Amino acid sequence: MALEFAQRIGRIPAYPVASGYDLGADIAMLASNESCFAPLPEVVEAAAAVLGGANRYPDPSYSPLRRALSARYGIPADRIALGNGSCDVLLAAGEALLEPGAEVVYSWPAFSVYPHLAAASGARAIEVPLDSEDRHDLDAMLAEITVATRLVLVCNPNNPTSTALALEPIEAFLDQIPRHVCVILDEAYCEFALCLGDTYASVELLRRYPNLVLLRTFSKVYGLAGLRVGYGLCGSEDFRTAVDQVRQPFYLNAAAQAAAVEALAHQDEVDRRVERTLAARIELEQGVRELGLWVAECDANFIWLRLAEDAEEPTLIGGLRERGVLVRAGTSLGRPGAMRVTVGTGPENARFLAAIGELV
Ligand SMILES: Cc1ncc(COP(=O)(O)O)c(C=O)c1O
Repeated sequence: MALEFAQRIGRIPAYPVASGYDLGADIAMLASNESCFAPLPEVVEAAAAVLGGANRYPDPSYSPLRRALSARYGIPADRIALGNGSCDVLLAAGEALLEPGAEVVYSWPAFSVYPHLAAASGARAIEVPLDSEDRHDLDAMLAEITVATRLVLVCNPNNPTSTALALEPIEAFLDQIPRHVCVILDEAYCEFALCLGDTYASVELLRRYPNLVLLRTFSKVYGLAGLRVGYGLCGSEDFRTAVDQVRQPFYLNAAAQAAAVEALAHQDEVDRRVERTLAARIELEQGVRELGLWVAECDANFIWLRLAEDAEEPTLIGGLRERGVLVRAGTSLGRPGAMRVTVGTGPENARFLAAIGELV
């Protein structure tokens, strides 16, 4: 007899997981917006150094990492939520804030995990289409705020479209949101976004909006996707307390904590990597535009392009794969006829451009 699961299991959409991790080294992995740079040797050493003590549970106060983030951003340590990747904080936010009868508002397409929040909690998902340039339409989102709204997600820069909004319209948007509604500004890629100024600019908003959470991660710019560390800088302590309440106490392993603390100590190298990534992204965008394809106004470490109307997405994605290049098909991200390509190393980007040049 088959197992009987909770009803919500039937509702939760499958996350479009990336494939190719078993294909060997000669593959350009441009499908998951990871950093193409390996963690710095000092970061690897810091993670390795704590493994000898792995008979003990990790420090559940996460104090060194909280302190380091607090010192960096000037936010009290008790207003910093941590998680096993920022996904963990996101899912915990859904659990803590949503329930049947509540609503969560977000743009679509955006990060593939957002639909999970409503499906898992029984809340209603209000998906607001992006504008014609594939950017968030904040006015249209505002029009969807009701008495039932508990959570609003703004992905900036947006995954999968790489488009970003400046802080002024976001501030005007926040002014219109009731203070009991939590707004998560998902800034997984903020370090790459030139339109945001610097990574401290949005932190200033936390002084004015206690209902705001800036969700960030060590998976992208710090190159630690495999260790899973994310964090939320919160406008008030309540959010951090609630997301801690719904999770197991040891969500961040000892190696991940140590690596993240060390990674924060090498900001100059991180900044250099950002510069190299942005220079490579501009070349990638130009290469794709020269093929006559539309590319979004990108502001992250990946590009978003639309395929020609007569192009067959599966054939194109398959053709790239045959040539050793893995990218994300728009269909799996909520927009058929498009494609998301992560900025890789110079040779990887060249390989992608050569391959797509042969195919379109
Ligand atoms: C917009 C956005 N938010 C959050 C995440 C989650 O990242 P992680 O759980 O690795 O911190 C991702 C990952 O791709 C993302 O694109």
